[in-house]
Amino acid sequence: MSTVDRWRSRRSCLAVPGSSARFIEKARGLPVDEVFLDLEDACAPLEKEAARSRIVEALNGGGWRAGVRAVRVNDVTTQWTYRDVVTVVEGAGANLDCLLLPKVRDAGHVRWLDVLLTQIEQAVGLPVGRIGIEAQIEDAAGLSRVDEIAAASPRLEALVFGPADFMASINMKSLAVGQQPPGYSADAFHYVLMRILTAARANDVQAIDGPFLQVRDVEGFRESAARSAALGFDGKWVLHPAQVDAANEVYSPGQDDYDHAELILDAYEWHTSDAGGRRGAVMLGDEMIDEASRKMALVVAAKGRRAGL
Ligand code: GLV
Ligand code: MG
Repeated sequence: MSTVDRWRSRRSCLAVPGSSARFIEKARGLPVDEVFLDLEDACAPLEKEAARSRIVEALNGGGWRAGVRAVRVNDVTTQWTYRDVVTVVEGAGANLDCLLLPKVRDAGHVRWLDVLLTQIEQAVGLPVGRIGIEAQIEDAAGLSRVDEIAAASPRLEALVFGPADFMASINMKSLAVGQQPPGYSADAFHYVLMRILTAARANDVQAIDGPFLQVRDVEGFRESAARSAALGFDGKWVLHPAQVDAANEVYSPGQDDYDHAELILDAYEWHTSDAGGRRGAVMLGDEMIDEASRKMALVVAAKGRRAGL
């Protein structure tokens, strides 16, 4: 039984309609951490069947710059889901890292996908357990069960917020996806983001923010990304090449923070050692550091190392 790598970088997760050969071609060379080829909402019902084989061909064609190659299948209440999974995994399982399951409302949805993946891997001779799962939390039911969803399978690598469906699900009075709704002075998404983030962290999986639809408003994208990055989110969807650099930058630590984190780790290791006097709380310049500082520094250093700083 192999296991998924739950911490591969996902600062920028590019959505690509599986129905568009042109967009798929363009996506191949973009410097994103993850690319996901979409069989769900960006793919019209009459195009879904043709899109499955186009996706299989695209994955097997190789040449992806993205470290994570994913496919978003349809949600489990539809007639398409099982065949999405069977066709894509049988056809291109060796070139696929992850499946993205939308509209997850309870842990059973994730477990269903886990079981189906195992059956296919066994049937076609793929290593069992290598293909990961990302679960989209995009309605009130999913959010209310997010803790059990986050714990549903060892394949789970990330919880992903779906703001468009979520806004519809709670009747939010706005059509501007990813932006704050007018008429509410605080951050309307704070509770949702924190709920997803704490469920993710409690189960050692990543937390990914969803799309920002105004693709020409790069500053607006950056602002929205900066909010979830500040809380601790690992990355965000990108819908357009213009959003890619901003996502990679916002979800990486700044060089100064990264250097500082490495300094804390070095200093703390030395001071807690025999040679350093086995001290638990020490001064680093004007700053008092202790075991909790080390944990915070570890997080920043790990993100920085993954980002190649
Ligand atoms: C994404 O799937 C969303 O609903 O925002
Ligand atoms: Mg959605």
